Amino acid sequence: MLSDPAGALAALDPAARAYLDLLMRCLTREAFLDQEWWDADLRDWPGGRDAVLPLLRERDWRVVRRGDPAARAEGRDWPPTAETMIGTARLANVAECCVAALRDGVPGDLVETGVWRGGTTVLMRGVLAALGDQDRRVWVADSFEGLPVPDERYPADAHLDWSDVEVLKVDADAVRANFDRYGLLDDRVRFLEGWFADTLPGAPIERLAVLRLDGDLYGSTMDALTALEPKVAPGGFVLVDDYGGWPSCREAVEDYRAAQGIDAPIHEVDWTGVWWRKP
Ligand SMILES: C[S@@+](CC[C@H](N)C(=O)[O-])C[C@H]1O[C@@H](n2cnc3c(N)ncnc32)[C@H](O)[C@@H]1O
Repeated sequence: MLSDPAGALAALDPAARAYLDLLMRCLTREAFLDQEWWDADLRDWPGGRDAVLPLLRERDWRVVRRGDPAARAEGRDWPPTAETMIGTARLANVAECCVAALRDGVPGDLVETGVWRGGTTVLMRGVLAALGDQDRRVWVADSFEGLPVPDERYPADAHLDWSDVEVLKVDADAVRANFDRYGLLDDRVRFLEGWFADTLPGAPIERLAVLRLDGDLYGSTMDALTALEPKVAPGGFVLVDDYGGWPSCREAVEDYRAAQGIDAPIHEVDWTGVWWRKP
């Protein structure tokens, strides 16, 4: 009998629950929102500030705010210092799914494809620590140099050249330092450095309990699904960050699910995040 991830955190013992709650509030900086200030410099965007502002407004993206709790909760800003941009609701969903997978005895490791500063994978490692897991690994997959130039094989990405966006480029040593900041860097944290198309197909991952996709583009989503979704164990979770926010990502998910005959129900987390569970 598989448990409902929604109740997974509440069912933890109080110390584990308090640790994960504090870890999440640090990773999002919700605990320090009064100190967060981001005057986003959009001049490095392709097309410049004037081109990108309408796009961000369309998504209700908060650009210049001091400690806007709603934006942070919904993951609608680029935090100046927080180790994750996905916001409280999606981060809690990661914890819930990881805890549920462990509690239900679903075999396999945890992975995120598209980690930015690494905060979501830090939380995954924190869940293993909180539950006393001794074996599983956390895979940290990213180019560590931002988004790729769109791949011509994927027409859905043709107008999405974000490869120059500096804020998305975080090198692997900075991500390692973020794990270390929380005392969670060890040999069970494995880095897959490079473009997904190159690193994921041959990655030495045997089985996955949780696969989280956060690569924005059609190509990045499809490359990760193709290489890793077959490795998700029965009862394991597939989490997709960009399903609601990026039509290109949604298209890749729908194409993949249709091609593989996957009809597991899709559950919404917030305005963009979704998940499903492998039967
Ligand atoms: C939106 S950020 C991820 C946010 C992160 N999950 C968090 O918790 O804040 C997208 C990341 O995906 C990476 N990325 C996108 N497409 C990629 C690809 N094809 N190969 C490798 N990395 C990719 C980028 O480098 C970037 O770090």
